[in-house]
Amino acid sequence: MTDLGTYTKPLAYLGLFTLATTTLSLIRQATIFLRPSTLLKTYNPTRKNWALVTGATDGIGFGFAQELCARGFNVILHGRSVEKLQRRQRELQAEFPDAKLGYVVRNSQHVTADIDGVDAEVGEILGGGKLTVLVNNVGGETRPATLLKEYTFEDVRDTVSRNAMFAIQITRVLTRRLEVDAPGLVLNVSSVAAFGLPYISAYSSSKGFVDSFTKSLRAEFAAEGNAVEVMGLRVAEVSTSGYDVKSNLFVPEARVLAGASLDRVGCGQEVVWAYFWHWVQGLSFDILPRWLMLKFATMKLKAIRTNMEAKAKST
Ligand SMILES: NC(=O)c1ccc[n+]([C@@H]2O[C@H](COP(=O)([O-])OP(=O)(O)OC[C@H]3O[C@@H](n4cnc5c(N)ncnc54)[C@H](OP(=O)(O)O)[C@@H]3O)[C@@H](O)[C@H]2O)c1
Repeated sequence: MTDLGTYTKPLAYLGLFTLATTTLSLIRQATIFLRPSTLLKTYNPTRKNWALVTGATDGIGFGFAQELCARGFNVILHGRSVEKLQRRQRELQAEFPDAKLGYVVRNSQHVTADIDGVDAEVGEILGGGKLTVLVNNVGGETRPATLLKEYTFEDVRDTVSRNAMFAIQITRVLTRRLEVDAPGLVLNVSSVAAFGLPYISAYSSSKGFVDSFTKSLRAEFAAEGNAVEVMGLRVAEVSTSGYDVKSNLFVPEARVLAGASLDRVGCGQEVVWAYFWHWVQGLSFDILPRWLMLKFATMKLKAIRTNMEAKAKST
């Protein structure tokens, strides 16, 4: 007969080992938030360098532009409306009189070969200065809470283009410049949706692309010995015009999220939760089984869908 007692000790040691490694990993991750990084300065020691932020006329992108100016960068805004870009540029100039500003116009939903011209436009704005930071922020769902079969050809193309295609193309175009002006930094704004959520499959999979792009480009720069750092930023709910929810502890304002993202620079992770309370929410993805997470996500996205249907009927 087997003595059951012989299993007790190994199991207890295994349990203790698991507990210790989980606790250590959580402490290590939490430290990232306890000690905001100051490494962003590495990319702007002279306070004369430039950052380019895509989708910078609103929401998190405008928050990045404000926070980068506040931290001594000159900033190139990207957007699709000249009028809105000029308005945002004036607002930034009023808040940060010492900052140099410029803008480039491209519609990220319709990426064409003229994206190659961005490098020359950026060169003109820099006037001999250095571009050391690129924030790939532009994105968002074009048709939230929609079944894939309800999308048109254009819906899928626009969502993927806005969230994935534009980021990889503009990064390709600006990479040589970032390498020459190194040390450089590429920040890619991702989403909790990258976990693979229902009712937003085009958006969700585009953000999955962004995460893979972050990891592969980071590995490519490292393999080539280039001093360009790449980091992905995982984001949950943020109060923006594109995502109309009231801010609270778990739903920060856009600028708070942008500031938190810049505080994570140099933390060593490939893809990091930018904001502490998003990280806390994200722990449930590690701990709870996927089927349970999907139950919560489905309830939430179905409720959004019902609301949208009710709104559409009332108009
Ligand atoms: N807000 C959230 O809860 C949340 C959660 C997870 C991830 N994210 C991610 O965070 C990023 C920013 O989201 P957000 O909520 O700040 O969005 P937002 O408030 O809608 O702002 C989006 C920005 O991108 C620009 N933009 C949108 N479509 C464009 C196009 N076709 N061509 C050029 N520019 C375009 C917008 O320009 P206009 O001013 O012309 O519209 C605006 O400047 C996105 O990548 C999003 O996926 C957001």
